Amino acid sequence: MYSLIKPLLFRLEPERAHNIVIDTLAALSGSAMGMRAMRVRRPPISKAGAVSFMNLTASNRFGLAAGLDKDARAFPALRALGFGWIEVGTVTPRPQPGNEKPRLFRLTNERALINRMGFNSCGMGQFIRNIASRRLHYDSILGVNIGKNARTPIDRAEDDYVYALEKVYPYADYVAVNVSSPNTQSLRDLQHVERLKTLVGALLSKREKLRGIDNRRVPIAIKLAPDLPGETLGPICEMLRTEGVDGVIATNTTAMRPKALTGPHKGQTGGLSGPPLEALATRVIAGLHEHLGEDLPIIGVGGVEDAAGAARKISAGARAVQCYTAFIYRGPGLLERLQSLV
Ligand SMILES: Cc1cc2nc3c(=O)[nH]c(=O)nc-3n(C[C@H](O)[C@H](O)[C@H](O)COP(=O)(O)O)c2cc1C
Repeated sequence: MYSLIKPLLFRLEPERAHNIVIDTLAALSGSAMGMRAMRVRRPPISKAGAVSFMNLTASNRFGLAAGLDKDARAFPALRALGFGWIEVGTVTPRPQPGNEKPRLFRLTNERALINRMGFNSCGMGQFIRNIASRRLHYDSILGVNIGKNARTPIDRAEDDYVYALEKVYPYADYVAVNVSSPNTQSLRDLQHVERLKTLVGALLSKREKLRGIDNRRVPIAIKLAPDLPGETLGPICEMLRTEGVDGVIATNTTAMRPKALTGPHKGQTGGLSGPPLEALATRVIAGLHEHLGEDLPIIGVGGVEDAAGAARKISAGARAVQCYTAFIYRGPGLLERLQSLV
């Protein structure tokens, strides 16, 4: 089916194609009938493929990475396509439009994307209403990825993250803290070990308070960039382990540009994803795993588009895998390709 739809979608401007797909999946996610229709094609859930991380169990190792369902409108239908779990967001406290368009580009020869979306978000109020109204149709782990508003000065970033944690806490099975998007000014500075320690400390102490109220300990994972210098990984891992973070998601998109890229958009500013990111992301996962061992689970993401790529992430130390770009190029058939690993 996707092989019929894809040429039509790829004739459209990328963000328009994205919006059509999300609007369709959102409409299905919002109705019991729509979800019944979706479930007809759900692959059987095999217990053999189940995976546990951060005290959560997903029916398979392949999750949808953050950024596709930014406003949490389509996660039940995305799950019904076969993803083991969905990470929604990044959500920011207040609504914001993101960067000027165009801001999403296809590098079709490499099956890659460059994006500089800049956290376009419906804002927290609408986001949690979206989750609340759709959760009924969803039966897996829901990760919620949080970020800061562009207008919040970086020195006040902590306020945005702590606010976001509090608001999403009742709805999230885990919270992913995004300090690694290349498209929000200075965001990646928060990965500096001392700054990250302050942020993590604030989030974990807020979590202790929320846990008392909600009677639930929601795991917190930190999402890192692939562009971190190798020597910074040791101190970051040490700090994450000592502070008591629950997991790491590696990696976000890269600001680097491999020389071999082709096509008219290769010079666009933004984060590069898909196969050209794969080796870099896998190296970072291996580096993190060297320091973390099995103490903290690593969710591996970056350029995975088939079972072999997923196996490389797992060999490097990832417990589970997420994808985004391959879903754009391969559609729901991606999940069938990945299942052959199980
Ligand atoms: C268009 C687009 C938007 C994204 N938005 C987000 C986001 O809001 N938050 C986030 O943590 N990652 C975001 N990502 C990064 C993905 O979650 C993922 O980490 C990255 O694309 C690498 O995986 P992939 O090669 O499988 O796409 C985005 C990626 C793309 C392509």
